[in-house]
Amino acid sequence: MSEPLLEVKNLKTYFYTLRGIVRAVDDVSFELYRGESLGLAGESGCGKSTLAFSLIRLVPPPGKISGGTIIFEGRDVTKMSEEEFRREVRWRGISMIFQGAMNVLNPVYTIGDQIAEVFMIHKGYSKREGLEEAKKLLQLVGIEPRRVKSYPFELSGGMKQRAVIAMALALSPPLVIADEPTTALDVVVQAQILNLMKRLKNELRTSIMLISHDLSIIAEVADKIAIMYGGKIVEYGPSDLVYNNPRHPYTRALLNSIPRLRGEIRDLTWIPGTPPDLINPPPGCRFHPRCPHAMERCKKEEPPVVEVDRNHYVACWLYTK
Ligand SMILES: Nc1ncnc2c1ncn2[C@@H]1O[C@H](COP(=O)(O)OP(=O)(O)O)[C@@H](O)[C@H]1O
Ligand code: SF4
Ligand SMILES: [Mg+2]
Repeated sequence: MSEPLLEVKNLKTYFYTLRGIVRAVDDVSFELYRGESLGLAGESGCGKSTLAFSLIRLVPPPGKISGGTIIFEGRDVTKMSEEEFRREVRWRGISMIFQGAMNVLNPVYTIGDQIAEVFMIHKGYSKREGLEEAKKLLQLVGIEPRRVKSYPFELSGGMKQRAVIAMALALSPPLVIADEPTTALDVVVQAQILNLMKRLKNELRTSIMLISHDLSIIAEVADKIAIMYGGKIVEYGPSDLVYNNPRHPYTRALLNSIPRLRGEIRDLTWIPGTPPDLINPPPGCRFHPRCPHAMERCKKEEPPVVEVDRNHYVACWLYTK
């Protein structure tokens, strides 16, 4: 196979707070090929957004990338100067739909102006040229081009989210990160946005990294799924295997706690206990205080990553020989 579009190796992103060091992303590795989509799931607070911010180098202070490498199109972007990264990678190479972005569209500018601005800043277009591009983009995401003249308050939630997606696509980046893009929307609109993302992935061959606390949403779009728990990826592999044959006890619990879109109807369970404190995570396997299968070893030693099926990886002592 050709080289990956994105290769993250042993990434560590920590927040240096007065209370202590929050190990929000702690030794995370994965790769993504062109046109492929990766879903990242896990409970709130497990480090999903911090991982996304790391990839576009916008980790808010007091956080910073403290170790590891992020290779994008063959280059380690952690080593680039901010100027070089901004010029060559952010938005052009990797763009991001921020969590809650549709709520922070600027209310005093039209949607067209806000999209046109991306072209004016990054490509030196005139306002008129920018607006022409904005119309094309709106069409692409299923909004009538005449809506360039609309203000955010004139659009529905679903349309605003489409406009935000249009902005992320403006410079045709090979990788788009979407952080909880459907969370604030009702179920029908959620489905429309997911269909739009699937279409973009298939038509534009854009790689998508879709982040959600809801695994059923991710399984709809993603080719591969990574499950995060307490700053680490605990299970990773092809979507159908992770979704239909989950191996990690945490993934199983996560799947049992959501209604499945397809398949049998059964009782939902929730995961007892609380997510780990990332300043003082539990030793050994971070999931051990909540795991129904925890053994003595799990409390002391961190489980190694094991390939349980082809390209399907799990970090759990249950699967070591
Ligand atoms: N600006 C910040 N300062 C300190 N800690 C932070 C900051 N942002 C996030 N964190 C911590 O990092 C961890 C991961 O948060 P986040 O990446 O937002 O998780 P998720 O997106 O999965 O909900 C949490 O423990 C959170 O409290
Ligand atoms: S390593 Fe142990 S505690 Fe962790 S998920 Fe596996 S069985 Fe449970
Ligand atoms: Mg988040």
